[in-house]
Amino acid sequence: MKINNLEIKIFKDKAELYKEAANEVLEVIKKEKKPIISFATGGTPKPLYELLIKYYQQKIADFSNLTSFNLDEYLGVSEDNINSYSYYMYNNLFNHININPKNINLIKGDAKNIKREIKRYQKLLKKNKRHLQILGIGSDGHIAFNEPGTDPNLGVHIIKLDQQTINDNARFFDNDIEKVPKEAITMGISDILYSDRIILIATGKNKAAPILQMIRGSVNNLLPASHLRNHDNVCIYLDSEASNSLKL
Ligand code: PGA
Repeated sequence: MKINNLEIKIFKDKAELYKEAANEVLEVIKKEKKPIISFATGGTPKPLYELLIKYYQQKIADFSNLTSFNLDEYLGVSEDNINSYSYYMYNNLFNHININPKNINLIKGDAKNIKREIKRYQKLLKKNKRHLQILGIGSDGHIAFNEPGTDPNLGVHIIKLDQQTINDNARFFDNDIEKVPKEAITMGISDILYSDRIILIATGKNKAAPILQMIRGSVNNLLPASHLRNHDNVCIYLDSEASNSLKL
C-alpha cells in the first residue's frame, strides 16, 4: 500500500520482515556490477545482517563487488572502541562476509582534522550514488543522526544528540547516560535521499509514534524522517507494534 508517497509493508512475522529486507540487498548485489549500499547501525538492522551473513555462508550472496557506506559515527570515538559504529559494522557484518576492505567507507569519528574528514566523506558520497539506503528511525523521528530541527539541505555535519537519543542509546552503554557520546558526525538528509531506493525498518512500540507522524503528519523539519516523502522510491518495513497507531 502507498500512503503519502511512501510504500508501506506491514509484517505480522518479524522473520518475514527481515527476509524480505535481505532480499532487497540480494537483488542489488546481484543486479548491479558495482553495487553501492549504505548501511545503518543500532538494534533494528542486526537481524538483517545476521541473515546476510547466513546467505554468504550458504553461498547465496556474494559481496565481493560491494561498496559500502555508513550513515554516522560518534564524534571522538575511535574505530576500535566497541561502541563505535565502525566496530559495530565489522563485528556484525563486514568480518563475516567477503566485502573487499578497500570498498568499506566509514566516518572516522576520532579524525584529527574533523573538517577534513567531513569533506572527504562528503566527496565520496557525491561520487557514489547509492543503489540502496538502509535506515532505522529514532523514537524522536531522526534518521541517521539528523535530530528534529535539522536543516534537510545540510550535507555531512556534526550534530549534538538529543536527550531522547542519548536516553535511547544508553542501553548500549551499560544503561549509563553519562557514557553515551553527546555528539556525532552524520550524513545529512540530502545525502540519505541520494539513493535509488531507501528502505526504513521500524519494529517495536516505541517506534509507533514517529512512524505515525512520518506517514500521516506533514513533511517538516521537526520530524526528520518525514522528508523521505520527497523521494519516490521509499519502502517502510513495519512490524505489528510499529504500525499499530496507523489504524489501517
Ligand atoms: P535502533 O536505532 O535501531 O537502535 O532503535 C534506530 C535509530 O536510531 O535510527
